[in-house]
Amino acid sequence: MGKILVTGGLGYIGSHTTVELLQLGYEVVVVDNLTNTTLDVQDRILQITGKSFAFYQVDVCDTDQLMTVFEKESISGVIHFAAYKAVGESVEKPVEYYHNNVSGLISLLSCTKKHNVHSIVFSSSCTVYGDTKLSPITEEHPIVEAISPYGTTKIIGEQILKDYANFSEARVVCLRYFNPVGAHSSALIGELPLGVPSNLIPYVTQTAAGIREKLTIFGNDYNTPDGTNIRDFIHVVDLAQAHVKAIEYSPNMNMSFDVFNLGTGKGHSVTEVVEAFERVNNLKLNYAYGERRAGDVEQIWADATKAKKLLGWKTTIELDEMMRSSWAWQKQLAN
Ligand SMILES: NC(=O)c1ccc[n+]([C@@H]2O[C@H](COP(=O)([O-])OP(=O)(O)OC[C@H]3O[C@@H](n4cnc5c(N)ncnc54)[C@H](O)[C@@H]3O)[C@@H](O)[C@H]2O)c1
Repeated sequence: MGKILVTGGLGYIGSHTTVELLQLGYEVVVVDNLTNTTLDVQDRILQITGKSFAFYQVDVCDTDQLMTVFEKESISGVIHFAAYKAVGESVEKPVEYYHNNVSGLISLLSCTKKHNVHSIVFSSSCTVYGDTKLSPITEEHPIVEAISPYGTTKIIGEQILKDYANFSEARVVCLRYFNPVGAHSSALIGELPLGVPSNLIPYVTQTAAGIREKLTIFGNDYNTPDGTNIRDFIHVVDLAQAHVKAIEYSPNMNMSFDVFNLGTGKGHSVTEVVEAFERVNNLKLNYAYGERRAGDVEQIWADATKAKKLLGWKTTIELDEMMRSSWAWQKQLAN
């Protein structure tokens, strides 16, 4: 395979994927407009891998600029991460979310079409399944109306790609992530905090670091063994490796469009996660149970059998390591 374009490649999942690609000997071209990351991630990737890569500070919505990247580089596949991702923020800024996530994708597809780049991997999300009681959930589960504009951008993105793939030579893989957490074992790259975290793990690590006073666990009266929500947490390095498998799989697909769940196949309750964090890092977290939060799905975890079978991928990193690496990353951020 030739060069792989990673859009949003200096972001959380994109940077880990860039590392995995470089370590496997791929040539990588990264496009990122730095709206949710910093340029030093480029050096950190170099530090981890010892390998350099082409970087363009370009907004994927700017088709002319993006086209010049395709003109300069000989790209054979694209992994498209570049998007806004905060569910809560998307409710307040729906137009910005639709513009960035949907127009950005359309702009990218104008470039792949013009330059005959057929392999495309897209970041989707388990939010497309909505509030379901059917875990473990397979890819057969119907897509339901999303509760946020962010979720809708993922549903629309998948639909656009399906239509595009049906009437072109493209081979598109949509990856539906469950709950990505953790950081690289080097603690050089991880998830950068964006305001007050709405996800559990950054809130946990920021509370442990004293940035937040107390963690509130939203609801302990759910119909789950300990009453708290259940999620399928997946380590970001396992997730990154799935992208490599997916970009390798795409040219050989016998259909033009396919979707895969990416999770461990195991659900962990919020209380279990907090207790694991305390245990492996040997510290005490200030937390309390509060009211349920609107929009939270009671319990959801993946059936990832399809990814195992067709992509030859499975997760290897367990919850304890997710908690250890998250804390190592948080401590490094303070330095
Ligand atoms: N992290 C999660 O929990 C999660 C879950 C499901 C799906 N996803 C999806 O995975 C993808 C990556 O998520 P992440 O957690 O790494 O987010 P992130 O914000 O860390 O990374 C996204 C990167 O894209 C860049 N970017 C955003 N808009 C851009 C644009 N118009 N042009 C160029 N660059 C742009 C940002 O600067 C950032 O570096 C996103 O599409 C997100 O919706 C994330």
